[in-house]
Amino acid sequence: MKLDHVIEAQQFDRDLLEVVFNEANEMEKIAYSGGSDILKHAIMATVFYEPSTRTRLSFESAMIRLGGRVISTENAREFSSAAKGESIQDTIRTIQSYADIIVLRHYQSGTAKLAEKIAQIPIINAGDGAGQHPTQALLDLYTIKESFIKIDGLSVAMVGDLENGRTVRSLAYLLAKYSDVKIVFISPDFLRMKDDIKQHLDKHEIPWEECDDLREIAPQVDVIYMTRIQRERLIERPGDYEKARGKYIVNRAVVDSMKDKSILLHPFPRVDEISPDVDVDPKALYFSQIQNGIFIRMALLKMCLIGYQH
Ligand code: CP
Repeated sequence: MKLDHVIEAQQFDRDLLEVVFNEANEMEKIAYSGGSDILKHAIMATVFYEPSTRTRLSFESAMIRLGGRVISTENAREFSSAAKGESIQDTIRTIQSYADIIVLRHYQSGTAKLAEKIAQIPIINAGDGAGQHPTQALLDLYTIKESFIKIDGLSVAMVGDLENGRTVRSLAYLLAKYSDVKIVFISPDFLRMKDDIKQHLDKHEIPWEECDDLREIAPQVDVIYMTRIQRERLIERPGDYEKARGKYIVNRAVVDSMKDKSILLHPFPRVDEISPDVDVDPKALYFSQIQNGIFIRMALLKMCLIGYQH
């Protein structure tokens, strides 16, 4: 069995999530023992219309660690023929002649789904505007699972720009697959989580609440998932950006208030929302989270291009 595409978090059910996590676990061993050549005949195209450090480079590293090759346009908005007016449809139709899989980041929500409909090769959504970032959510959940083993019963606080954050949207979809999970959305009232996610959680009987006080919630939850206030998505609302910027900062006092077994995650990049002096705290797992991105993405490439046992 193969994964056709990776477009949105809700395409993964619990069984498939277990497969991804088991594959990632195997990939961890492969990565630490010098890599593999299972994808030696495969070419991956990374097509990024928005900036990235982690997603693009970890996918490229993942492909190389599995023996594959990479072609890339890292600033497709400026340096691909999109700059001359080419449609995304024509770009995808073209690139599929050159590669076996496309990892696509785009500034418009829904573009990965559009690409999936056209492409005859797998498309992996590496972030579509304020839509979703499913591979990030998979590595987030993998990191949570490494800490707690069981995801059922956990309480998770998502903090920051929840209106524009695609990572929190995808993570909420994944958490909705589990039982007795509780989500607290912490944001200014003008950057609240959108209604479609709240309705999805209601439908799956996942309790959620909203508040704007991180210090009050920090001692109560198992996971704090910080996010950045996204200046690039608030260009037309500079007043909101200025009001939100710096509102939520995890410093030593916040980390000390967390339960002993609680963890602090962040998809990165961070700006000022986590003080670097807490990086060494055992609760701060965001660098392990970044490392886990390699294993999850190796697993996804293998599951798309070679297949998996279900
Ligand atoms: N977390 C994440 O998507 O990071 P990049 O924007 O650097 O890829």
